[in-house]
Amino acid sequence: MKSQYLVKTYLYKIIVVMESRIKLRKIICLCICLAIGGMIYFGYLICALAPSTVHFHFKDNLGRPLPSNHTAMSYDYENDEATGSNDQRFDINAHDVMVFLHIQKTGGTSFGRHLVSDLDLQRPCSCQRKKKRCYCFRPNRHEVWLFSRYSTGWKCGLHADWTELTSCVHSELDKNEGHVQRRYFYISILREPLSRYLSEFKHVQRGATWRNSRHWCGGRTASPSELPKCYPGPYWRGVSLDEFADCPHNLATNRQTRMMADLSLVGCYNMSAMSTEQRNRMMLASAKRNLASMAYFALTEYQKIDQYVFEETFNMRFCVPFVQQNSTLSATALAMLTPAQLSKIQRLNALDKELYEFARSLMMR
Ligand SMILES: *[C@@H]1O[C@H](CO)[C@@H](O)[C@H](O)[C@H]1NC(C)=O
Ligand SMILES: *[C@@H]1O[C@H](CO)[C@@H](O)[C@H](O)[C@H]1NC(C)=O
Ligand SMILES: *[C@@H]1O[C@H](CO)[C@@H](O)[C@H](O)[C@H]1NC(C)=O
Repeated sequence: MKSQYLVKTYLYKIIVVMESRIKLRKIICLCICLAIGGMIYFGYLICALAPSTVHFHFKDNLGRPLPSNHTAMSYDYENDEATGSNDQRFDINAHDVMVFLHIQKTGGTSFGRHLVSDLDLQRPCSCQRKKKRCYCFRPNRHEVWLFSRYSTGWKCGLHADWTELTSCVHSELDKNEGHVQRRYFYISILREPLSRYLSEFKHVQRGATWRNSRHWCGGRTASPSELPKCYPGPYWRGVSLDEFADCPHNLATNRQTRMMADLSLVGCYNMSAMSTEQRNRMMLASAKRNLASMAYFALTEYQKIDQYVFEETFNMRFCVPFVQQNSTLSATALAMLTPAQLSKIQRLNALDKELYEFARSLMMR
């Protein structure tokens, strides 16, 4: 009896132990499953949040230096990634230089500040207090990687355009750093043309002139007869919108197209080199081509996308997010326009409108 009882209790204990082992095993299994599940989930979260896997169809010639044989239309960024050929990527340690083509009143000032102050770099730009100047050197060498107002200054002229930059950046950098083979990554910002035009109008009304711009093209600056001034004195302060729009030499008109185009193709500022119609057509085509072969461009109206695309293109991160400013100024200016003024300004800036639409379709593709 007793031995039977012992055996029973023994068996019972074994069963209990086994059950608890099974329970333990189940718990361990559950834990492991949870852990793995957690890891996968967490990993998924990270991946989902990380920009690199966000499904975002953006076909641009990302990171391609200028000049390039690939146009945005033919370049397939994803395939390039897949084959692991990254040699067109911006390399801050090599001889790659980012060149910022800053068109007036496109939000380029805040973008330019982001570039010098908010990038998470191994060697951040060192900025001097008060002076609007930063030194943006490569991590390993005393060479600049950024050509912009706040890093190098207006070395190629105040708000230098495509024509001026492409004929000047290389020799300017050579002056300081000696002759080096570099790759240039052009970047720029476009803005909705009506807002930009009105913003420039307001700026000029307040006394801005940019009269120190060189308008360099074909080996010389534009002559006063090629670019007559719209106003007699040093400023055009207090100008009315109609006066502003009626000046045929006003550089605000289609400014983005002109600054993005290769002006040597249209006889520079010599208006008698070809008909106005032909000049416009060629300038717009050139502006589109140049825009499409930029390493990067932003649109003022799409700050979040701008930031994302920049970070992906250059493999750099901003510590401070871009903020979408409400364009209050041009909104009020817009509200004060008569229908006649509105249609006049739209007609005047038809090239910029087409360029902007082209840029937007490239970005949204
Ligand atoms: C561009 O590529 C084509 C063929 O792919 C080639 O014939 C042409 O010479 C290239 N142009 C430049 C400027 O490299
Ligand atoms: C402008 O172009 C016309 C026609 O090509 C030419 O005759 C004229 O000399 C040019 N003017 C200047 C200042 O180069
Ligand atoms: C812009 O305007 C919208 C509504 O008009 C507002 O919700 C938003 O906070 C404004 N953004 C800024 C940066 O002022």
